[in-house]
Amino acid sequence: MAKVLDEEGRDLLYRKARTHNVWLPRAVDDALLREAYDLAKWGPTSANMCPLRIVFVKSREAKEKLRPCLDAGNVDKTMAAPVTAVLGMDVHFYEKLPKLFPQADAKAWFKDLPAPILEYIALRNSSLQGAYFMLAARAVGLDCGPMSGFDNAKVDAAFFAGTSVKSNFLCNLGHGDPAKVYPRNPRLEFEEACKLV
Ligand SMILES: Cc1cc2nc3c(=O)[nH]c(=O)nc-3n(C[C@H](O)[C@H](O)[C@H](O)COP(=O)(O)O)c2cc1C
Repeated sequence: MAKVLDEEGRDLLYRKARTHNVWLPRAVDDALLREAYDLAKWGPTSANMCPLRIVFVKSREAKEKLRPCLDAGNVDKTMAAPVTAVLGMDVHFYEKLPKLFPQADAKAWFKDLPAPILEYIALRNSSLQGAYFMLAARAVGLDCGPMSGFDNAKVDAAFFAGTSVKSNFLCNLGHGDPAKVYPRNPRLEFEEACKLV
């Protein structure tokens, strides 16, 4: 019989996991970030293209580079978080396809597509990988605080200048203060969001 995740695991990843805005002063070991990535990398992407690229912003100097890119409401919590992951996407993801999808010339499927299409494909797949990453972070005991309230062009200039990587979203990482989360908002029920046809 196939194994399934027990109730405790389901709570850890989904039911009891919250978006955090207040961080406990507990450092995050680099090994934990590696552990989270090493789980997240196994999530599926189109043609195994893996467009996600992550910069983990930890140092005071790097945090100060991030500060002017943030919407006002995201500044204090991001400055206080032990780590902020800048989740980016390589819009020239096809360059890695000879390694990632060696059974076919997959690079040829994508390399001449117009830039907006490449960006669309990279956005879809890096967003999936970003979600895999957040669940992986929870699986290794970290809390997440994802954010899209920032200036993408400024983040790209600060962290991805001279590359084919563009920012997708940010995610604060650390140990959240469980006493300082908002009341949980509802989700759509199965009947509201799904159809069986
Ligand atoms: C892609 C994304 C972007 C978000 N952007 C922001 C943001 O800029 N600022 C913020 O305070 N919260 C942001 N959030 C947090 C959401 O409001 C929060 O995850 C959602 O309300 C669910 O909260 P819960 O996980 O505690 O149930 C973002 C979440 C996601 C997934």
